[in-house]
Amino acid sequence: MEIKAIGCEPLQLKRVHLKDSHTLKVYQENGGYASLKKAMNMSSDDIINEVKASALRGRGGAGFPTGMKWSFVPRDSPKQKYIVCNADESEPGTFKDRYLLELDPHALIEGMLIAAFALGSEACYIYYRGEYRYLIDIMDKAIEEAKAANLVGKNILGSDFNCEFYTHTGAGAYICGEETALLSSLEGYRGHPRMKPPFPAIEGLYACPTVVNNVETLTAIPQIIEMGGEAWHNLGTEKSGGTKLWSVSGHVKKPGVYELPMGYMDMEKFIMEDCGGIRNGHELKACIPGGSSVYAMRADQIFGKKVRMDYEGLVEAGSLVGSGGFIVMDETVDIVDSTKNLTEFYKHESCGWCTPCREGTDWLTKIFTRIADGGGRPEDAQLILDLVDNIEGKSFCALGDAAAWAIQGAVKRFPEDFKKHLLPNNGNN
Ligand SMILES: Cc1cc2nc3c(=O)[nH]c(=O)nc-3n(C[C@H](O)[C@H](O)[C@H](O)COP(=O)(O)O)c2cc1C
Ligand code: SF4
Repeated sequence: MEIKAIGCEPLQLKRVHLKDSHTLKVYQENGGYASLKKAMNMSSDDIINEVKASALRGRGGAGFPTGMKWSFVPRDSPKQKYIVCNADESEPGTFKDRYLLELDPHALIEGMLIAAFALGSEACYIYYRGEYRYLIDIMDKAIEEAKAANLVGKNILGSDFNCEFYTHTGAGAYICGEETALLSSLEGYRGHPRMKPPFPAIEGLYACPTVVNNVETLTAIPQIIEMGGEAWHNLGTEKSGGTKLWSVSGHVKKPGVYELPMGYMDMEKFIMEDCGGIRNGHELKACIPGGSSVYAMRADQIFGKKVRMDYEGLVEAGSLVGSGGFIVMDETVDIVDSTKNLTEFYKHESCGWCTPCREGTDWLTKIFTRIADGGGRPEDAQLILDLVDNIEGKSFCALGDAAAWAIQGAVKRFPEDFKKHLLPNNGNN
């Protein structure tokens, strides 16, 4: 398993290979908390402007500009403001945040402290997926160390800035990664998404202004303050600033977590050279670049196409950056089988709140199971697309859209795989 930067100096991965990288001592020996000190001598507006200038876009999947999100928080509101880190990391194919949480916890604490200072917050929450319970001890120890060093708690670094940290686990539900469901879960309710608007920046945790950001988004903040927003922006492209972590899994010779500058050229080189190419004797069939919820790409959409790896480049190429969960598949993968697996995932993870997603994902699973059992019918491809059309844009939250895109992409882009299963008279049920 590789953990390294390609095409840039490591920023997110700068400390992960150091012995005891999770400790305050090693973090501070390598420049840690200097950005907090710098930020505490800046005004809130200046900090937010640096984050805007960096063109940092949320790394949780939606790619929303972070500086803009922070600027929506009503800083003059008398209510408490909350900073919430989304460490749910449940998008299939995504496993970058866990390494940041395990190997560089102080970078997250520092990023959250800078956000709290800028937005006038005195409370930070880190929400872990249930399966990451084993990582909480590391973070709790890091928070204790930071507290003992007067970096967390009351009168931080002798100032009048107070900020406490709390860690919390969910129980392993994908929907609790959706920011409003996460907030419901954090408040102790069932993890159902909430109506937006109001957006969390206005009315989030306990109905107070709240910023929810992904782990990787928040760990980028100290780098941005250290080098300046513009310099960080310039590592990437015009609309996609900085560097990005990609979780690479599947049939490549060198899976791992790779840090690339935004706009890295190109996706073919990344797969075939940097990730070692496809396992021996096999060839690339498909790649899902941004976690299971984005459109899969065929090999002929990648080879010779100079696909630029940033938000705009991947849209032009027919997919999305998403969470950077980069799943590579060779020709042994039957896309009907792999999509059946995904439909089961979305059915299992649908929270059941709204009908199109609850019923639609159930019906999709039934159809894919019938096909897998040899009962495919020629009209099934269209039936699946019709069903998906009744989920996309008609569900309460983006989980429904995610399920629809994953399945739509498979049916539209891999018709030959479906044809094999959907023969006339192939079953009569
Ligand atoms: C079903 C679903 C699951 C999600 N899971 C995650 C997740 O595990 N981690 C995450 O950071 N964002 C996840 N998101 C996105 C969050 O709703 C939200 O956009 C994100 O936490 C905002 O942080 P960012 O702006 O730093 O990306 C998910 C969204 C949906 C619809
Ligand atoms: S789209 Fe699915 S996950 Fe989202 S609220 Fe509806 S049932 Fe729940």
